[in-house]
Amino acid sequence: MTDRNLIQKAEAAMKFSYSPYSRFAVGAALECEGGEVFTGCNIENAALGCTLCAERAAVAAAVSAGHRSFKRIAIASAGSSYCTPCGQCRQVLSEFSPTMEVLCSRADGRYVSYRLDKLLPASFGNEQML
Ligand code: THU
Repeated sequence: MTDRNLIQKAEAAMKFSYSPYSRFAVGAALECEGGEVFTGCNIENAALGCTLCAERAAVAAAVSAGHRSFKRIAIASAGSSYCTPCGQCRQVLSEFSPTMEVLCSRADGRYVSYRLDKLLPASFGNEQML
């Protein structure tokens, strides 16, 4: 699957965003090691702290279907800036695949790519607990 295909899946998921408070819709498409793709959108809540980001919604879908190893995630928003993952999402992605690729796109379809360990250096993982 090309980067562009994965971004298109993230854009399609963005359409389901429930974001009445921020009005900032986000979609994510998570590609597993075996090629399966799971998507998610942001899901807000009147109790704002209960908000779920699109990336973590995609991780929840993938892990719930038995997948724990990821190659890439595409994150799409309709904003004019690239939508990079928040700190909590970086940590959650890193739990499963600390060196996966993160594609961040913006409204005009342009995107940037990072390795997750560049976005979350010196991360806390289960090795720290040994
Ligand atoms: N959001 C995401 O879904 N992913 C990100 O990477 C950044 C932020 C959502 C959370 C909230 O619904 C809205 O964007 C504004 O913060």
